[in-house]
Amino acid sequence: MIAPIVQMSNIGSQLTEALAGLDRTEELMNMTAEEDDVQRKIEIDKIEGDITFRDVSFHYEEGKEVLHNINFEAPSGSVTALVGSSGSGKSTIAGLAATFLNPSSGIVTIDNQDLSQVKLNCYRQHLGVVLQDEFLFEGTIRENILFPRPNATEEELQHAVKSAYVNEFTDRFDDGLETLIGERGVKLSGGQRQRLAIARAILANPKIIILDEATSNLDTESEGLIQKSLSELTKNRTTLVIAHRLSTIKRADQILVIESGRIVERGTHDELIDKQGRYYDLYTYQAKI
Ligand SMILES: Nc1ncnc2c1ncn2[C@@H]1O[C@H](COP(=O)(O)OP(=O)(O)OP(=O)(O)O)[C@@H](O)[C@H]1O
Ligand SMILES: [Mg+2]
Repeated sequence: MIAPIVQMSNIGSQLTEALAGLDRTEELMNMTAEEDDVQRKIEIDKIEGDITFRDVSFHYEEGKEVLHNINFEAPSGSVTALVGSSGSGKSTIAGLAATFLNPSSGIVTIDNQDLSQVKLNCYRQHLGVVLQDEFLFEGTIRENILFPRPNATEEELQHAVKSAYVNEFTDRFDDGLETLIGERGVKLSGGQRQRLAIARAILANPKIIILDEATSNLDTESEGLIQKSLSELTKNRTTLVIAHRLSTIKRADQILVIESGRIVERGTHDELIDKQGRYYDLYTYQAKI
């Protein structure tokens, strides 16, 4: 008698879990697909990657504007660094450029076309987004890198692996790229994870890169390798980077200093240092620590 009774009590909890899963699935199924958006009609065959913000304002909640009249141009192939204190609006600007958000007023353009009218798949196949804590899944390192382009050739994969200095650590593993990562495999360090994420983005080969640079403290060796892989990643691509590293910021073609949803200063590192304003304060503070 005992065994079937225990089994029956288990059914109850299984059923509750299954119903919760069903709820969540239903919620997802009922969401309208983004591409259904009737507004988006423009198709672009070949993207150059010129991005401009013209008088862009944005609010998440009615009446609470977080970006006010943002104007800037990110020409094809250039690196634009966004710096500023927490909550100033950097991720919101990145989200607008990535079409995750749409301006409340003003327009964002790609190659002089209104981004809010461009078909999402047209744009996003040219867009690479590397986030602070990039998503890695259980599986081999090879599978993780191939994720955006499963059909890439071995040559392309090797190029990405070398450009991002992933082989620097995989060569030391017995199984190389076949090494399992995640719960059941090896744990990667912060710097190794970042290089893997960069390799993934290099393999995807997008025209536009939106990068939320990780803040984790790295030893100087990892730091150097990441710098090198980042310069490989940003080469010939329009890059918008939320920059935390001074070395990244120094290399940028233009720096936008954001404060309370406004661009308060702009220029190159040298220009802004000469100006002795907000950026100068930020920079000298970082240099001290
Ligand atoms: N989903 C959201 N809903 C409502 N308000 C939000 C949302 N996301 C951000 N905000 C608000 O918008 C403002 C700008 O946020 P944003 O994330 O762009 O800042 P940030 O510069 O990226 O900050 P950090 O350096 O901490 O990442 C903040 O005041 C924040 O509270
Ligand atoms: Mg942010």
